[in-house]
Amino acid sequence: MTRPLDHLLVTGGAGFIGSAFIRAVFRRLGFAGRVVNLDKLTYAGNPANLIGHVPDDGRYTFVHGDIGDQALVERLLAEHDIQCVVHFAAESHVDRSIYGPKEFLQTNVMGTFSLLEACRARHAAGKPIHLHHVSTDEVFGSLGDDGFFDEETRYDPRSPYSASKAASDHLVRAYAHTYHLSTTLSNCSNNYGPYHFPEKLIPLMILNCLDGKPLPVYGDGQNIRDWLYVDDHAEAIWLILNKAASDTSWNVGGRNEWKNLDLLHKLIEVVAVEAGRDVRELRKLITFVKDRPGHDRRYAIDASRIERELGWRARHDFGSGIVETVRWYLQNPRWVQDMKSGAYKSWLDTNYAAR
Ligand SMILES: NC(=O)c1ccc[n+]([C@@H]2O[C@H](COP(=O)([O-])OP(=O)(O)OC[C@H]3O[C@@H](n4cnc5c(N)ncnc54)[C@H](O)[C@@H]3O)[C@@H](O)[C@H]2O)c1
Repeated sequence: MTRPLDHLLVTGGAGFIGSAFIRAVFRRLGFAGRVVNLDKLTYAGNPANLIGHVPDDGRYTFVHGDIGDQALVERLLAEHDIQCVVHFAAESHVDRSIYGPKEFLQTNVMGTFSLLEACRARHAAGKPIHLHHVSTDEVFGSLGDDGFFDEETRYDPRSPYSASKAASDHLVRAYAHTYHLSTTLSNCSNNYGPYHFPEKLIPLMILNCLDGKPLPVYGDGQNIRDWLYVDDHAEAIWLILNKAASDTSWNVGGRNEWKNLDLLHKLIEVVAVEAGRDVRELRKLITFVKDRPGHDRRYAIDASRIERELGWRARHDFGSGIVETVRWYLQNPRWVQDMKSGAYKSWLDTNYAAR
């Protein structure tokens, strides 16, 4: 499979996984082309995630905007002669979707629809265009004690977040089928690593340990998630772009299941060593709180298809990945402070005030 990948439009490239993808292509994956990063800079996006990690020779362009602005997307596709859209932009936090689902439908469903429409117009004009949609394993619902999600698993989304992602997955497939738009799709398990917004489980627990704050555990702490280092996810997407046929979907996961409570104990041990804290004092911070409504019990991905057919492997084992992550948060208190306070928005004022 060869598709042109010299001019990429990355959506949501200032967020956690999108910025990891852009850093990966420029720094590790030998990418010699250009990236336009379209990001609305919600609370979760920070353009500083890319400072020092992208070339300053004109091959990287940041555009502050909404994927739902179809005219803007159409203009970017034409002006930058975009051949491939790598679509990360989303509202991504399940808890927020429970208390305010509207934004999730707006960005995840209608925003994806706008992107697809812009791509369809380009395709109809005879220009090469491919769209890769980054999705989640949460669209498959919840597992019991055994079994895994594979590419054939029936969709069964249960939160407003996963329902909005499921809707966007279906739209992407519908555009491939109906309009012969070139698309690929990936459903990935939980990611962890540097630059993860501090509301998500792993960074929240690391930072609360460091601040001596309670470590909130939903319900009985026995819910299971399958954790993957974010750089491994970025590399899986790059492989899919380069090797996968159109209208295919790929499950990506770490073969790394952890009960939330066990994960927290692991994190506590690593923080204690790396930050020189007393492990017994940290354990005392564990606080059981009322369960999240509709909390899925277990997610686990069968990644054998992408391993077998595209040769992908998760390179990071959890032991080293989690140490790297804890060290990153210890070394970057300024980033944490800026994200929590929204101070990075001053970057936007400085760089975009005149536009
Ligand atoms: N984090 C995970 O564990 C995980 C796992 C599987 C799949 N995913 C999917 O991967 C993608 C990226 O997740 P993430 O964790 O990096 O999310 P994130 O919340 O860290 O980043 C999302 C980015 O999208 C931007 N954005 C939001 N709405 C936008 C809009 N309307 N227009 C343009 N930009 C907008 C935000 O500013 C932010 O930079 C999402 O589609 C998510 O569903 C995430």
